[in-house]
Amino acid sequence: MFEKTEALKKLFTEKVAKATATSDIEQLRIEFLGKKGSVQALMQELRNVPNEGKKEAGQKINEAKQYIENAITEKIAELKKFEEQKLIEATESYDESMPVSVDYGSYHPITLVRREVEQIFLSMGFSVEDYSEITDDYNCFEALNIPKHHPARDMQDTYYLSSNQLLKTHTSAAQNTILRKYKSNLENGNPIRAIFPGRCFRNEKIDACHENTFFQMEGIMVDENISISNLIYFMKTMLSEVFQKDITVRLRPGFFPFVEPGFELDIQCLICGGDGCPSCKDSGWLELCPCGMIHPNVLTAAGIDPEKYTGFAFGLGMTRLAMMRYGVKDIRVFNSGNLKSLSQFTEKSFTNPSNESKEA
Ligand code: DAH
Repeated sequence: MFEKTEALKKLFTEKVAKATATSDIEQLRIEFLGKKGSVQALMQELRNVPNEGKKEAGQKINEAKQYIENAITEKIAELKKFEEQKLIEATESYDESMPVSVDYGSYHPITLVRREVEQIFLSMGFSVEDYSEITDDYNCFEALNIPKHHPARDMQDTYYLSSNQLLKTHTSAAQNTILRKYKSNLENGNPIRAIFPGRCFRNEKIDACHENTFFQMEGIMVDENISISNLIYFMKTMLSEVFQKDITVRLRPGFFPFVEPGFELDIQCLICGGDGCPSCKDSGWLELCPCGMIHPNVLTAAGIDPEKYTGFAFGLGMTRLAMMRYGVKDIRVFNSGNLKSLSQFTEKSFTNPSNESKEA
C-alpha cells in the first residue's frame, strides 16, 4: 500500500503542477477525491489487506488524502491570486513612468457641476466658503436648533469619532461658523451671502440611489427684509443657468428644525415638461432642494438679532444634481474610482433632457 499511496501522491503532484486555472483544480478534486476517485479506490482495496497490515495501510491512505487536500487548497489560493492579477491587468493597465500629459486627466463630474454652480453664485455676489469634513455636535446639530434627543437626528445616521467629533452629515453644519464670520457685514449695512459646498457622510445602506458619502452645497443669505421671494428668485436663476433653460419651480412645506417655514423646492420635470413620465414618477415634478427661512434660534446662536435680520438657506444635493445633469442612473459611479466611467464626463457632455426623452 505504501508504494501505491506514494505513486498516487506523485501523480497528483505532477498533475496539479500543470493546472493553470481554478476550474482545472475542480477536475483534479473529482479525479482524486471524488466518490469514484483514486483515494476511494484505494479504500476499497483495504478490504484485501491482511488484518495485521490494515491499520497502517489505512493511515497511509489518509495521509495521501490529507496531502492532496492541502495541495488543492494551496494551489487554489495561488491561482486565485494569479487570476485576480490578470483581471486587474486586463481592466486597468497604466505605466507609472509615462510623462504626465494634461490630455489624460479629467475632472470628476461632481467637480464640474460644483464649479459651474459656484460661478453662478459668484456672479450673484455670493462668496464660496470652505468648511472641514470633521465637526462637532454643536455645529452639526445644536446650533441648528436640533437639541440632543430631537427626532430629527434619527434622519442623519451619524459617524461619531472619538473626542466628541463627528463627520458632518450635512453642509448646514457650517452655518453657525459662516454666519459668525460675516455678521459684521450686517453692522456695516451689507448682506451675508455665501455658499459652502462639501462632502457629507451618513451611515446609509448603499444602492443605486443611496451613498454614505455624498456632496451638498449649502447657501445662505441674511439681511434686513429678506423674504421667501428672494429665495425663489435666487434658486430659479441658478437652476435655469445650470440646466440652460427656463426652469419652473414650486415650494412644498417641508420640516427642518433650522428653518421656519421650511420647504422642499421641486422643479418641473425636465424630461416630460410637467406632463408626467417614469422619471418624475408621473407627478410632473422632481424634488431637488430643501430650503427655508433661517430659524430665529439659528440666527441667535450666531449672535445675529432675529428681530432685525432675516435670511434664507438652502441645501442643494450636488450628487443628485450631477446625476440629473449627466443622466447618471447609479449613484455608485461617483465614488467608484473607475476611470473608464469617470473620465467620460466633460463640460460638454451634459445630458440634454429633450434628447433623452426622444431616445427613451
Ligand atoms: N441639511 C439638510 C439635510 O441635509 C438640508 C437642508 C434643508 C438644508 C433645509 C437647508 C435647509 O439649508 O434650509 O437634510
